This record gives sequence, structure tokens and C-alpha cells, in this order.
Amino acid sequence: MSFIQMKNIEKSFGMHTVLKDVSFALDKGEVVSLIGPSGSGKSTLLRCLSRLEVINQGEILVDDEIMARTQDGVVQYAAKSVLQRIAGKMGMVFQQFNLFPHLTVLDNLTYAPRIVKGISEVQAIGNAVKLLEKVGLSDKQQMYPSRLSGGQQQRVAIARALAMEPKIMLFDEPTSALDPELTGEVLRTIRALAEEKMTMLIVTHEMAFAREVSDRIVFMSDGVIVEDAPPEQLFTNPQHKRTRAFLQSML
Ligand SMILES: Nc1ncnc2c1ncn2[C@@H]1O[C@H](COP(=O)(O)OP(=O)(O)O)[C@@H](O)[C@H]1O
Ligand SMILES: [Mg+2]
Repeated sequence: MSFIQMKNIEKSFGMHTVLKDVSFALDKGEVVSLIGPSGSGKSTLLRCLSRLEVINQGEILVDDEIMARTQDGVVQYAAKSVLQRIAGKMGMVFQQFNLFPHLTVLDNLTYAPRIVKGISEVQAIGNAVKLLEKVGLSDKQQMYPSRLSGGQQQRVAIARALAMEPKIMLFDEPTSALDPELTGEVLRTIRALAEEKMTMLIVTHEMAFAREVSDRIVFMSDGVIVEDAPPEQLFTNPQHKRTRAFLQSML
């Protein structure tokens, strides 16, 4: 069974329906990029998965557990313990890095594992040191986020999410707030995760990157999944007019 299943999801803000009968699945080890015009509902889809937004209709399953489902037209979320277990399997990285400004890089990485997971300080530090090495920031352990470049801050944010040992990483335009010369270092970090078979759902405008790392590309437009295909097919032979128009606009 798929690691993530979203079935017939509806999400509205007031009268404005932002996700319209969206169905989507993702297997363990898969890397899927979510692309589409601004305002098409990509962030909202990710936010519904990570429960930053509540759905209005549909069903969400994560790792064989029901997170939310609709019964007699009413959405019911699982018990708090189930939701916490599911949340513990997801790491999220946003466009704005959202690091704790008053904590050093190292403390940014050890804080949640200690407080939320109850891991010992020694072990948390040990894990954090390894993760900083992985994202190439071993020399920044004692620095505060404000002293780092945007690309370094985003790599810390990725390491911080990994410190919780998630089973899936969700990225929402991880390079959109960065100067062009800093996007490469962040994309390299994400590419390395793909090579390790980390399950990932990535919202991105970096088409070349999406094409290279993804097993599948999902194209969303106006709250609907228009096309869901392997990168070669989607980029070289898009089936829908809207997909073609979007890809043209990204050239
Ligand atoms: N909290 C909110 N309240 C009202 N409208 C929202 C909210 N969040 C998103 N929207 C609207 O939902 C639509 C989809 O937004 P979003 O998911 O952010 O799109 P994308 O990430 O594809 O650019 C947009 O029209 C946006 O204005
Ligand atoms: Mg967005």
C-alpha cells in the first residue's frame, strides 16, 4: 500500500474552493515533485498533509493509518495519539527557513528531538553533528542563524527536519527565497536525500531539478491535479493543454 494516500480531498477557504476532488498517492522511497502556477493549491495540499490545514472532504492515510476520513459528509480526524504518531513521520521545510533565531545551529537541531522525542542530550548532539556534516555545515555548529547565508540557513532547516528521523520529507519551494547563486547548494542537499531513497514530496519551480530527481511529476492547476506522470513523459510529451501552457511559461 502507498505510504501517503489522499482521496477526493476538498479544501475551501470561505467560498473559495482551493482543492477540488484531489486524489494522490505516494509510495515509500518515491520522489514526487508538485508543480503548477502560483495559487493553484500546491502549498495547501502540503499543508493539509502536515495538518496545518483541515480538509473539508475526503480521506488521508499515512503509513497505513487513517489520519482523516469523511463519514456521512463530515470529516473526522483520528485520535490525538494517532495524529501525533503520523506527524512524527513527516518533516517539513518551508520557503522561509523558520529557524529558531535565539538558538545556535546545533541547538536548533537538538531542541525538538530532546523536547518532543525525549532523546538524551548526548545522543541528540551526536545525531546533530552527523547531520550537519551531511549538509556540509560542520563548522557552523555554534553560530546563530542570522550569521548564515540563506542557503546555509535552509540547509540547517533541512538538517533540523531530518533530526526528527521522518519517513517523508515535504518541501514547499525550498529555494524560492534564495538568491540564484545559493539555490544550487540546497538542491544538492535534496538530491543527496533522493539518492538515499528518502521519500519526498517537493513543491518547486526548478523544472530541471524536478525532472532530474523525481520519479513522478504532478502538475496542479486551479485546485485540480491535471497530470501525474514520470518526468520524461510530462516534460517531453505533456497530455494536457494546461500542462503544455505552464511548461512553456517556465522556459
Ligand atoms: N489561509 C488562507 N486563507 C484564504 N485563502 C487562502 C489561504 N491559503 C491559501 N489561500 C488561497 O488558496 C489558493 C491556493 O493557494 P496556495 O495553496 O498557497 O497555492 P500555491 O502554493 O500553488 O501557490 C490561493 O488562491 C490562495 O490565495
Ligand atoms: Mg505555495
